Amino acid sequence: MNLKPEHKDMLEGRYGEGVAKAMEIQTAIGETFDAKRMVPITRAHVALSSQDADLWFVEKMLSLGATCKVSPTVNPSIDLKYLNQHLFEIPKAGVDIVSATNAAYQKIGATLTFDCTPYLQQNVPGMGEVIAFSESSATPYVNSVLGARSNRESSQSALCAAVTGLVPEYGLLLDEHRYGEILVEVEADIETDFDYQLLGWCYPELYKGLEIPVFTGIKARPTPAGFMNFGAQLNTSGAVSMYHIVGVTPEAPTLEAAFGANKVKHRIKVTNDDIARTRDRLCRKGEKIDFAMFGCPHLTITQVETIAKTIAERRFAVDFWVLTSSLTKELAERMGYLDIIQRAGGHIVADTCIDVPPCWQPYYGKVGVTDSPKCAYYNEIRGIKFIIRPIEECVEAAIVGEVLQ
Ligand code: F3S
Repeated sequence: MNLKPEHKDMLEGRYGEGVAKAMEIQTAIGETFDAKRMVPITRAHVALSSQDADLWFVEKMLSLGATCKVSPTVNPSIDLKYLNQHLFEIPKAGVDIVSATNAAYQKIGATLTFDCTPYLQQNVPGMGEVIAFSESSATPYVNSVLGARSNRESSQSALCAAVTGLVPEYGLLLDEHRYGEILVEVEADIETDFDYQLLGWCYPELYKGLEIPVFTGIKARPTPAGFMNFGAQLNTSGAVSMYHIVGVTPEAPTLEAAFGANKVKHRIKVTNDDIARTRDRLCRKGEKIDFAMFGCPHLTITQVETIAKTIAERRFAVDFWVLTSSLTKELAERMGYLDIIQRAGGHIVADTCIDVPPCWQPYYGKVGVTDSPKCAYYNEIRGIKFIIRPIEECVEAAIVGEVLQ
């Protein structure tokens, strides 16, 4: 790479060992991807996970004296106090790792948002901003919906970027790599937020590849939750860091603009039959359930409102968990939704992820209902079986204790 004198000084330790280690990692990534130079970032988001490797890395950086030049927002952790009070006593090993991870990120200078939808609140980039975001729903959202520029960072590479304030310039940071190559003609009826969960899971089943897909045939602009669901599933079922929807996303006003000088490499059709097959494979048949869980990614206030309005005056027959940001929980309280959910016997918990062991241990081996394929997929390894349905149907199932069909 062609490093500026200042960047060479960083690599050689003039700004401390922590900065030098971050630069060493970033220049190695840059050389792997043929980056020519390092460029400044304006924002970062780290997919903190309160698991061993994550804690090891941030503590290693701290031991070398690293601090963040660009304070990153961070992914959810666990609200230990709330879960201790309302679910079970989290084992000491879990409390220790969560507390140590939170303390390490605070010390290194992160902004402790504990939310996996930073692109909706608190860390929202504009068109063309060069940023370093990790987290599977975040990368497609910032690139595709907001027109910002981030590669598919890991927690570690995003933390390095936060420390140096730089990223190697390659991939989605460059104009020529942001054009589409795969034409996806959507003939299926995609209308609701849940339809975007299914389309996002279905496309990588039909085409496996890292190229940018260009979707046509989508008739209405997705809601923010629809975009969020779409990106989360595209980047869980597959590895799609950016997509275009012609006439909807900002870099695809026309088909020609979406493809630029690229030729169409593959043409994929998505029909109602394809979506039905994905639904049959993914969503499971109805049966009795032990609990309901929402918020992977963290729910928006509109989704919380949908839950509250579906409940009306009824009560749940099973445990009911809504995961969201602390800001959205606060808003839900002000708007009366928290009260409705609590009166029905449910919970809204802030700052918490569905994937932080051992926080959801009481549900290991049990059956739940969720609207999120990502939630179901991540929990398979813990023996939790999820039936997947639209949010309103999940609420109805939680009221009777069973998914009826
Ligand atoms: Fe968010 Fe954790 Fe799901 S970070 S997207 S709740 S796996």
